[in-house]
Parts: sequence; structure tokens; C-alpha cells
Amino acid sequence: MLISIFMIGSMVLNGLSIRYDKEGLQVLNQQVLPQKEEWIAVHSPEEMVKMILELKVRGAPLIGVSAVLTLAQMAEHGHSLAEIHSAAQMLQQSRPTAVNLAHCIQRILEAKDESSVIRIAEQIFLEDAALCNSMARLGADLIQQEENILTYCNTGGLATAGVGTALGAIKEAHLQGKNIHVYVCETRPLLQGGRLTAWELQQANIPYTLICDNMAASLMDKGKIQRVFVGADRIAANGDFANKIGTYSIAVLAKYHNVPFHVVAPYTTIDMQCLNGDEIAIEEREADEVRGALGSFGKVLWSPDNAPVYNPSFDVTPGSLVTSFVFDTGVISSMNLYAAPKGFYLTIP
Ligand code: MRU
Repeated sequence: MLISIFMIGSMVLNGLSIRYDKEGLQVLNQQVLPQKEEWIAVHSPEEMVKMILELKVRGAPLIGVSAVLTLAQMAEHGHSLAEIHSAAQMLQQSRPTAVNLAHCIQRILEAKDESSVIRIAEQIFLEDAALCNSMARLGADLIQQEENILTYCNTGGLATAGVGTALGAIKEAHLQGKNIHVYVCETRPLLQGGRLTAWELQQANIPYTLICDNMAASLMDKGKIQRVFVGADRIAANGDFANKIGTYSIAVLAKYHNVPFHVVAPYTTIDMQCLNGDEIAIEEREADEVRGALGSFGKVLWSPDNAPVYNPSFDVTPGSLVTSFVFDTGVISSMNLYAAPKGFYLTIP
């Protein structure tokens, strides 16, 4: 019987940056990596919302997984379905751009009772890890021996429940002995590349070089980059996609220099209700992130205190700049996703 299987403390889930066991839900604080490896216990949906807003928990798939595990923990602690639903609404509003969160929450809202909430949350975690494995294999097939690959933001184990999306494919190519090298854009303003991707590559012993974002053009011009791999936060039906601010400029550079540009994402990142990139809501964040740097070292401001700032967290890259999308179901090179065979995206319920 489900009830006896999913009693308190019955879930044991282990990710690089999230875990759930008899101690409850814990996340690796991504705000202070790589200087500090600090695990934080999450006790309530309010705490999880705060962590998502502060980017202690981040990355499109991980935000969805973290939200549903928070709800599963509520179910384990005896909260009613009504309380879980109202927490779900609150969590869903925490970050607007990545659609994975809404997809995951929707699945929880369909739960018939509290024990189903736990079962569905666990399924979402395990499914996300499995989706990562599929994308890693398919993406790695595109990578040739000795290639230099440029990546942006962090799309690895820190951003998912598994090996990652774009970075998962890169890691898989390395494991296959392809002798690759990675150029990591630092990814201003919050430096997910310089802090998190560099940390993950270092852990995996993958050769990499960290660059400032504005160095990518000159590397491409010198023929030093053979391929770009990025993730996505929301892919519209026509192939336009939102990803970390700065992705668009890398895509334009790749097109100009004839460098293949690949987007790796699970089906949970596709939003067929969103017809094109103009319909994607873009989160704007606080000005001090651009006036200086925020991190484990605290807040360092180098601009005038009140410098006017524009700080969108994501931009939209037109699908026409994408060489191929690597989904969990396969690789599609068409810029027009309407042309994909029926059921191509949604093989997993
Ligand atoms: O603001 P963040 O760090 O959550 O942004 C993350 C990204 O833009 C990633 O590229 C995207 O979520 C894909 S991660 C698998």
C-alpha cells in the first residue's frame, strides 16, 4: 500500500546539490560555492522561496525539483492537501522565467492525496536524473575528439537532479575519452560560470579555461572554439529560447563564426503554450548585482551607489541561431519545432 511505503523519512534521494533523507530536505548553498560547501536544511516553503530568490537554489530543472520536494516534506510532516496547494502557488511565483517549475508544480496539483504528493515528487527527482542521462548521451555524440567547447552559465549537476543538461553532455564526452577542453564564460553578473561550472569541471577533472564573457568573440575569431553547448530555461514552440543573460550574444557570435551552437534541455523546459520568445517573461533582478558583485565574500560595490542599472536575468535567443536542440528524446536540427514528429517531446508522461 502506498501509505506504508511513503511514510515519514522514507525517501532517500541524493543529488549533487539537493538531498532528501531521514534528516529531511537539504540543499547545497550555491550562493557561497566554491569558497564554501555549505548544506542548509529547508524546513518550510517560505524558506525554499527565499533560497530560490537568493539563488542558493538555482538552475531551471533544480528549481522545479526543489519546489516539489519541499511540498513532499510538507506531506510527510502531516500538512493537508489544501495547505500543500497554497504553498505550491507561492513556490510557483518565486521565479518567472524557467517553465520547469510550473510543470513540476502542475504535477503535484494533480495529486489525489498527501501520499501521492510524496510519490510524485520522488518520481520527478528520479525522472530528472534519467532525463539528464539521456541528454548527456545524445549530446556527447555530437562532440568530436579534441574539441574545444564553450559553455555559458551553469548547467551541470548543480542545476539538476542528475548530471546536468549541457554540462552533462560535456562530462559524458570527457568520460568517453574524447580529450576535450572547455572554455567557461564567467557569466556576469552572478558568475554561475566562474564559480559553479568551474567548480564542477574541476571536481570532474575536465580540462577547462575560465574566460570573461567578452573574450568569447576573440577566441572564436582565432578558431579556438569548435562548438557551443548551453542550457535553456524556457523553449517556445518556434524554437526561441530563454537562457541566462548573455546567451544571445554568444549565439550571434557562433553564427557569425560558423561555430555549431547546441541547446540541451529536457522536455520539462519546453513550453508549447508559448508561441515565440516575445511571450517569455523575463525576470529582472536587483541593481546591486550589476553595481558590483555579491557572493561568499559579501557585497562589493564598485559603481556609484545609486548608478542606474538594467539587470534582466535572462535573454531570448531566436531559434534560427540554434544548430540543434538536444532533448531527452533526440536531437532535432530544425529551427521550426512545429516540424518535429508528433510526440517527439513528450515521450515521458
Ligand atoms: O539564474 P540561474 O542561475 O537559475 O540561471 C540558470 C540558467 O540560465 C541555466 O542555463 C538554465 O537554467 C539551464 S540549467 C540546466
